[in-house]
Amino acid sequence: MIKFLDWDTDFFGVKCGKAILEGALSDAEWEEFLLEQKDYDFVSIVNKGCDPSNAVRISADTTAFLADTNVQLSKPVEDVESPDGVVVQEALPYNEDFLKLTVFEHSKFFHDKKLFARGGAKVYEQWLKNSFGKEGKFFAYVANLGYCLFSADGKNCVIELIRVSDKARGKGIGKKLLKAAEHFAHSKGLTTLSVGTQLTNTGALNFYISCGQRIVRADSTYHLWNI
Ligand SMILES: CC(C)(COP(=O)(O)OP(=O)(O)OC[C@H]1O[C@@H](n2cnc3c(N)ncnc32)[C@H](O)[C@@H]1OP(=O)(O)O)[C@@H](O)C(=O)NCCC(=O)NCCS
Repeated sequence: MIKFLDWDTDFFGVKCGKAILEGALSDAEWEEFLLEQKDYDFVSIVNKGCDPSNAVRISADTTAFLADTNVQLSKPVEDVESPDGVVVQEALPYNEDFLKLTVFEHSKFFHDKKLFARGGAKVYEQWLKNSFGKEGKFFAYVANLGYCLFSADGKNCVIELIRVSDKARGKGIGKKLLKAAEHFAHSKGLTTLSVGTQLTNTGALNFYISCGQRIVRADSTYHLWNI
């Protein structure tokens, strides 16, 4: 039930696991979870669809705390025009400018003090670094002003990260970046464009909705520490 997380274990230096709870768990499944979690230092528990009975079990039987509520949005891919001034590139070489733009203050890695102490603030930076030069990872960007990292998962185009520099916000750049990703997705025969963001990131949520995205699900993530 709990999956060992290689990357996180390596990055945070503690044994990390992840449990994805799909629908209300039975008593037997919950007992299995309670037994397995003892083998980990840290478990990220994703309660898909914020199932209330799972939420009650987590609060009643563990010391886990709610670290994040992630909102998933999606839209059908349409045949949109390629926006002016945006470059789309696969396997983009390392780019220091993108790193300078990368601060995601709504992240659960910021707010969990134990993760923060283990480098949580650098997770998105690392995510970006790992995406440079990689086949299957695409960047839509406007030099020095903003970028959008995306990839394909089956027929779904997933927006992984998007950031516009503070000084350039509200000028339509974010919308252009999403449009460039959608144009690309259409040219590759992908059918949906999806993205996830934190419930606390109301600015991003309103931005995505303005760009035609609709909310499809919310998942709550709890952090369980055994050390
Ligand atoms: C979210 C972000 C990418 C938006 O980029 P942007 O260039 O400022 O957005 P745009 O100017 O293209 O705005 C497009 C639309 O979204 C709306 N919008 C953008 N930011 C908004 C906000 N904070 N609140 C409400 N609406 C917003 C605009 O009003 C506009 O609507 P319209 O087309 O109906 O006029 C940018 O604010 C950002 O980089 N934020 C920090 C990083 C972040 O949170 N990324 C998302 C993590 S999942």
